[in-house]
Amino acid sequence: MVAKPYDWAQGAALDEHSRRKHKILREYFRRYISTRCQLPQQSKFRLVVVDGFSGAGRYACGSPGSPIIFIEELRATLSAMNIRRAAEGLARMEIQCLLIFNDADNDALETLKANCAPLLAAIKDEVPDLHLEVRYLNDEFETSYPTLKTLIAQGRFRNVLFNLDQCGHSQVTHDTVRDIMQLTGSAEIFYTFAIQALLAFLHRRDPVKLAGQVKHLGITSVELSSFERLMSNDAWLGAAERMVFDTFRSCAPYVSPFSIHNPDGWRYWFIHLANNYRARQVYNNVLHDNATSQAHFGRSGLNMLSYDPSQDGSLYLFDMNGREAAKVQLIEDIPRLLSESGDALNVAEFYESIYNATPAHTDDVHAAIILCDDLEVLTTAGGVRRRANTIEVGDTIRLKAQRSFYPMFVPEKKGS
Ligand SMILES: C[S@@+](CC[C@H](N)C(=O)[O-])C[C@H]1O[C@@H](n2cnc3c(N)ncnc32)[C@H](O)[C@@H]1O
Repeated sequence: MVAKPYDWAQGAALDEHSRRKHKILREYFRRYISTRCQLPQQSKFRLVVVDGFSGAGRYACGSPGSPIIFIEELRATLSAMNIRRAAEGLARMEIQCLLIFNDADNDALETLKANCAPLLAAIKDEVPDLHLEVRYLNDEFETSYPTLKTLIAQGRFRNVLFNLDQCGHSQVTHDTVRDIMQLTGSAEIFYTFAIQALLAFLHRRDPVKLAGQVKHLGITSVELSSFERLMSNDAWLGAAERMVFDTFRSCAPYVSPFSIHNPDGWRYWFIHLANNYRARQVYNNVLHDNATSQAHFGRSGLNMLSYDPSQDGSLYLFDMNGREAAKVQLIEDIPRLLSESGDALNVAEFYESIYNATPAHTDDVHAAIILCDDLEVLTTAGGVRRRANTIEVGDTIRLKAQRSFYPMFVPEKKGS
């Protein structure tokens, strides 16, 4: 039996946290397509998008929901890309996309079909390079999962993007999240949940551990269950992020544990799971283009959750003020990371090692590397990079011979 917080037949209201989430989802998906279609020699891209809690596609105010956002962005991004490619003398790009829309509510799914039909018909007539196939499934997500997994396997898709916009926390199991991430090397998930529901789950699983995770905030188990007082507490945001990170880190190599920044308090989390640093790098950059839509509490350099919760940590809203502070931390953190692994790292290896635990923008990471007196960046030909925006994945970052002293043993920080 499905609870019905969304009355799609009467027209559902679009909450502020969903509006913010939709903007990030749209911008990320646009960059996802552009990034995956950027090779000049490429002329075809195949992907599957699974919207596991699709809803009806439109809200009472007329704003699009996630399934319509995916369709609109596929169309707009491919059209813009092919205009640009034609101007550059490149072959047209063709996209084949299987869209699987699932919702347990039959009314929602029928309304979704009606909302998608005119868009799909227009694409068929007007965008010959976009081949969309839509499958509608009407069941609880966990029940539909084996069917949609078979569809993905039959279509031999390697690029797989899931949007799991559940109500609560318990409608997708961690085993399923882990299974999705193992479907292919380029699987990604957007996963939404209410932190209150995650707390209830953690409380059932290990109440002693949970009490330990919030002890430094002076929160008792009783307060945890009353919950409302925690909502606007920045230090609570930091503790919750650690719990989220801890809970999902076994599911994927790259987990962004950031909360939606809501005037209503830290209630909803919109997290991104990826197998590849590149996806997380793009996601971090999108968050900075949507400054103040998401929030992080802790450090803003590398090792974002390693700080003493009773002394350090601050709110990072992905905005310009935060970015200046991040650069200061990065200038200290990056040479330390290099010295911990020797004295040089290939840029791709460096990215692989940092992106799970930093909220930083790529431009700030590059700027810090160039600004740091202890570092130099060498090209494959042995030249030295002088400008941050020219750093490439094939380059090497190296500690300069006359570097400042980084001690072999550093005292462990409390809380890290
Ligand atoms: C938050 S709404 C989805 C909103 C939509 N993703 C959007 O962005 O417009 C959640 C949807 O999940 C559906 N739902 C609830 N429980 C479900 C379950 N166990 N499996 C699949 N769908 C479910 C509800 O009917 C509702 O339409």
